[in-house]
Amino acid sequence: MSVPLLKIGVVLSTMAMITNWMSQTLPSLVGLNTTKLTAAQGGYPDRSIGVLPANPEESWQVYSSAQDSEGRCVCTVVAPQQTMCSRDARTKQLRQLLEKVQNMTQSIQVLDQRTQRDLQYVVKMEDQLRGLETKFRQVEENHKQNIAKQYKAIKAKMAELRPLIPVLEEYKADARLVQQFKEEVQNLTASLGLLQQEMGAYDYDDLHSRVVSLEERLRACMQKLACGKLTGISDAITIKTSGSRFGSWMTDPLAPEGDTRVWYMDGYHNNRFVREYKSMADFMTSDNFTSHRLPHPWSGTGQVVYNGSIYFNKFQSNMIIKFDFKTSTMSKSQRLDNAGFSNTYHYAWGGHSDIDLMVDEGGLWAVYATNQNAGNIVISKLHPITLHIIQSWTTNHPRRSAGESFMICGTLYVTNGYSGGTKVYYAYHTNSSTYEYIDIVLQNKYSHISMLDYNPRDRALYAWNNGHQVLYNVTLFHVIRSEQL
Ligand SMILES: *[C@@H]1O[C@H](CO)[C@@H](O)[C@H](O)[C@H]1NC(C)=O
Ligand SMILES: *[C@@H]1O[C@H](CO)[C@@H](O)[C@H](O)[C@H]1NC(C)=O
Ligand SMILES: *[C@@H]1O[C@H](CO)[C@@H](O)[C@H](O)[C@H]1NC(C)=O
Ligand SMILES: *[C@@H]1O[C@H](CO)[C@@H](O)[C@H](O)[C@H]1NC(C)=O
Ligand SMILES: *[C@@H]1O[C@H](CO)[C@@H](O)[C@H](O)[C@H]1NC(C)=O
Ligand SMILES: *[C@@H]1O[C@H](CO)[C@@H](O)[C@H](O)[C@H]1NC(C)=O
Ligand SMILES: *[C@@H]1O[C@H](CO)[C@@H](O)[C@H](O)[C@H]1NC(C)=O
Repeated sequence: MSVPLLKIGVVLSTMAMITNWMSQTLPSLVGLNTTKLTAAQGGYPDRSIGVLPANPEESWQVYSSAQDSEGRCVCTVVAPQQTMCSRDARTKQLRQLLEKVQNMTQSIQVLDQRTQRDLQYVVKMEDQLRGLETKFRQVEENHKQNIAKQYKAIKAKMAELRPLIPVLEEYKADARLVQQFKEEVQNLTASLGLLQQEMGAYDYDDLHSRVVSLEERLRACMQKLACGKLTGISDAITIKTSGSRFGSWMTDPLAPEGDTRVWYMDGYHNNRFVREYKSMADFMTSDNFTSHRLPHPWSGTGQVVYNGSIYFNKFQSNMIIKFDFKTSTMSKSQRLDNAGFSNTYHYAWGGHSDIDLMVDEGGLWAVYATNQNAGNIVISKLHPITLHIIQSWTTNHPRRSAGESFMICGTLYVTNGYSGGTKVYYAYHTNSSTYEYIDIVLQNKYSHISMLDYNPRDRALYAWNNGHQVLYNVTLFHVIRSEQL
């Protein structure tokens, strides 16, 4: 009996819409020269989808490239040539609105196409899985004592496959969501088209807010599709060698495009100066930085910079402080109730690392422990402005035997230690309040990891490894492809 071997592939990790690439990047992307672009069909098999095939001058075209090196689907939208001249400001405004919706329509269609295709894999594989399980059960009953070893092997395989089923379920839900967006946008496009003809009574505010809300939902949907389960961590790349054995460094996942400022904090206590490097390149090549003095010294290495502010644990307390770099003011401080501090429930390496703040696709989190939870890890989702706890999860993992932890897509990943051979071995899913043991190697290049955090923008792990600042890429899987052997 041959067992379908699951080959999991990065299919739809992130959908990136790159709008202003028309003249420079697009030709190299599709290997063609701009002047030929309007002749959409032919030429680039499977990769280009000409949409709204009216007059090429006015049509919109979407190019969905092969996956890039990070497994992303890169979509390029080519705008029609500007032909109409605007009659008045309102015409222009309406046209922009329509354009926006059309832009969205294109991206949704591409998303939808991919989703449909991937869904076919998913459904097929799901059937196979379920079929295999049933068959196996029958066979098992019929041959209770027979060729036990062989069955054991198949059974192990089954156990391996079973957790994939909920992932598939979730995927199907995503596909439905995309379908719904598609309808909504089609409706909106239609009504905008009518309005454009009539140019009479319409309410910009209403239209605008509908567009904005659709955009938000689309973004949320894409983000969801971009999420997945951690299945691999690349080897470490050393970015810089500086500072003491303990510290933390990061970039802001919500920084505006082009802002790659690096934030750097040496040591785990008795320091309140945060270094700001202008860019990642500057950080790598120079020691040119500006310093920000925090109102209090920090504790541990669990700081995080998020949307222009640093969030940190005040030394010898369970206070969380939000400090805005732009205005150099403490915009909020709030006690994290019941959280142990001052080396009560530290990570295995010590260093007053009782409260670890982090950010993932879903927002701001605190990872700590309480007496109430017997020193086991507690995860709290925090409101980024009020610092109030939105929701908490109690795990069964002792805080002190965790090496470090980081959050990706609502799942907390915990390492087994800070020195020697290190791996990520425990995962707690806040979506389902369940945990599992996993086994993902984490290269510990310099033998002492005192900080490890995920950055959802870079899809990278930032680590402080014994006075070295290192980065790891992560592989997240969302869609599953099956391959028969
Ligand atoms: C684009 O194609 C035209 C004609 O096919 C050619 O004259 C021109 O040099 C090309 N431009 C580039 C940048 O390759
Ligand atoms: C639509 O996409 C084009 C690029 O293809 C861009 O120039 C334009 O600003 C976008 N329109 C809106 C309203 O976002
Ligand atoms: C789209 O429009 C049709 C007819 O106007 C309506 O029945 C349908 O509910 C609309 N769909 C959405 C998602 O708004
Ligand atoms: C250091 O940074 C400042 C401002 O960011 C800049 O003016 C200066 O030229 C830089 N110096 C060096 C040596 O890179
Ligand atoms: C980021 O900060 C800006 C203001 O500085 C605010 O408008 C925006 O909502 C914030 N975003 C998030 C996700 O907190
Ligand atoms: C929760 O998320 C994890 C990983 O992201 C996934 O494996 C699991 O199936 C999800 N569970 C539910 C109930 O959505
Ligand atoms: C992560 O992947 C990108 C793109 O492939 C690559 O440029 C970068 O060097 C990688 N970083 C690490 C830490 O492996």
